[in-house]
Amino acid sequence: MRPYLIAGNWKMNQTPEEAVQLAGELVRQLQGVKHKLLIAPSFVCLPGVAEVLKGSSLLLGAQNMAAEEEGAFTGETSVNMLLALGVKAVILGHSERRHIFGETDELINAKVRLALAKGLEPILCVGETLEERQAGRAGEVVKTQTRKGLAGVSPADVGRVTLAYEPVWAIGTGKTATPQDAEEIHGLIRDCFAGLYSPREAENLVIQYGGSVKGENAAQLMAQPNIDGALVGGASLKAAAFVPIARFDEGRT
Ligand code: 13P
Repeated sequence: MRPYLIAGNWKMNQTPEEAVQLAGELVRQLQGVKHKLLIAPSFVCLPGVAEVLKGSSLLLGAQNMAAEEEGAFTGETSVNMLLALGVKAVILGHSERRHIFGETDELINAKVRLALAKGLEPILCVGETLEERQAGRAGEVVKTQTRKGLAGVSPADVGRVTLAYEPVWAIGTGKTATPQDAEEIHGLIRDCFAGLYSPREAENLVIQYGGSVKGENAAQLMAQPNIDGALVGGASLKAAAFVPIARFDEGRT
């Protein structure tokens, strides 16, 4: 059985003080949840949130990292800095990184490989734009992003990779992919992974869905055989919205 991974991507929200407060509320309200839980605050909020998460079951994540280990890269944050703060996982290739900041599959792949080499778990995000979906190219786009994002990742390392399917048109728009549409793409990603690695590796791969996940739709999405978790943006910014997602299987949503 694959574990569910429910993650909050706080994006560029929260001051350090607000982040500490939200993390504290989540630690209290998520006690006893049996799924894997992760929150990814902004870089400057990581030290404070790391303190709050100590001794809890919530894992600390980052939203990005540099593709280089150290050096003259003004404004960047390195893998070693993240590790030193207790970060366990890093979101890479988020559509906002791809489309607003121009990150390419090659750059994202370099980050994935560096994260793995240093012991950080990458969450590789893939997803098509509205135009690509309307042109019937959604499957091809996510398969290409998956293949290029994982280029050169060895079978020994790939077990530490999580995939996140985030259709660009569903992010922050309130438009969720239907569970069936999401399931179809998740199935394609798993098949693609089986071809790149093995059916056994594919069976163990955790594939999160992201894009307007809320308490109201989480259970239906998670009920799909190939959907193994959620990467949540807007609804991760308030405990009252995130807790029902993390407790999607407790009949309270
Ligand atoms: P929303 O949940 O706000 O649509 O954001 C999804 C996302 O981008 C998570 O990484």
